[in-house]
Amino acid sequence: MKPRLAFVGVGWIGRDRMLAVDRSGVADVAFVADTSIEVAAAVAAEVGAVLVDVDAVLDGAVAVDGVVIATPSALHAEQAMRAVGAGLAVSCQKPLGRDAAECTAVLAAARRADRLVGVDLSYRHLAAVHAMHEVIREGGIGDVYAVDLVFHNAYGPDRSWSTDRRLSGGGCVIDLGIHLVDLAHWLLGGPEVVAVTSRLFARGRPVPPGSEAVEDHAVARLDLGGGAVVNLACSWFLPAGREAVIGATFYGTSGAVSLQNVAGSFYDFRAERWHGTAREVLVEPPDPWGGRAVVAWAERLGAGAGYDPDVESVIDVARILDRIYAS
Ligand SMILES: NC(=O)c1ccc[n+]([C@@H]2O[C@H](COP(=O)([O-])OP(=O)(O)OC[C@H]3O[C@@H](n4cnc5c(N)ncnc54)[C@H](O)[C@@H]3O)[C@@H](O)[C@H]2O)c1
Repeated sequence: MKPRLAFVGVGWIGRDRMLAVDRSGVADVAFVADTSIEVAAAVAAEVGAVLVDVDAVLDGAVAVDGVVIATPSALHAEQAMRAVGAGLAVSCQKPLGRDAAECTAVLAAARRADRLVGVDLSYRHLAAVHAMHEVIREGGIGDVYAVDLVFHNAYGPDRSWSTDRRLSGGGCVIDLGIHLVDLAHWLLGGPEVVAVTSRLFARGRPVPPGSEAVEDHAVARLDLGGGAVVNLACSWFLPAGREAVIGATFYGTSGAVSLQNVAGSFYDFRAERWHGTAREVLVEPPDPWGGRAVVAWAERLGAGAGYDPDVESVIDVARILDRIYAS
């Protein structure tokens, strides 16, 4: 079956994912909804979709099998919950919820309704990350004992809602750090996190827990069961000397694998395997990875998939983020 989909929130990423699904041909882009009628009308016209009201989609009043949500982050959980409650499968942008409690509530509802939920953790779908996954899984770098995660976006987000906690749910940790915490959690097979310490900053000043300000710089350390340590640094607006610095390096007892963005790009990544001073390139750009998570979800929906508990790793990651925010 070719599923019929509605897209809710078609700003930058919603439109990008809609076009990716349309190009893939795995689903019909039937409806488009956004609180900005101008935005929705223009995006719907690009693929010949029908413009509808947001509530009509989330209440199940239009004939679709699934909904793709790409609205401001703090709205995701409530919108996903409504869609699942209306019997729809959901593909949601990250984060699924502002915290572990919201993620848990959405997935409990999806489990009860037996609906497929996907979260667009797009970096899992890089060819470079697949190559690293393979090496780690085969024991190619031995036991991983140290991980360095870095995601600096030197522009900072240009959308107005990002610095409004009621809409964003937080700053660079929930926006950028989440991708790399998810990668580490996934590539290491869901390790226990025994301790978390962090420092959060806004414009160079510490952000106390519970503050209304959103962090634009974060440094965190995760201590894993077994003694491995994960260091995370992420930021918006860092004077980084280039557009972005993105990296995830896993050091093991017999080598390392490293993901790095190329020349400050947000889109081009290289994976390398390191032995002492030697480097072996595993994957080079180009690799058009952006829409893969949503397309994979749509394919599974078309194949009749219902709830898949694998998605519950987002709750583990949300718990880690909760601890980064609380410490
Ligand atoms: N997976 C990734 O790699 C990735 C990359 C970028 C952004 N994102 C996520 O995608 C989401 C959207 O980010 P963006 O950069 O596209 O933002 P954006 O501001 O460009 O788009 C958001 C859209 O949602 C619409 N909107 C606002 N409130 C709404 C509501 N109540 N119902 C329906 N539509 C509503 C806005 O009008 C806008 O068109 C965020 O959660 C962000 O974290 C994910």
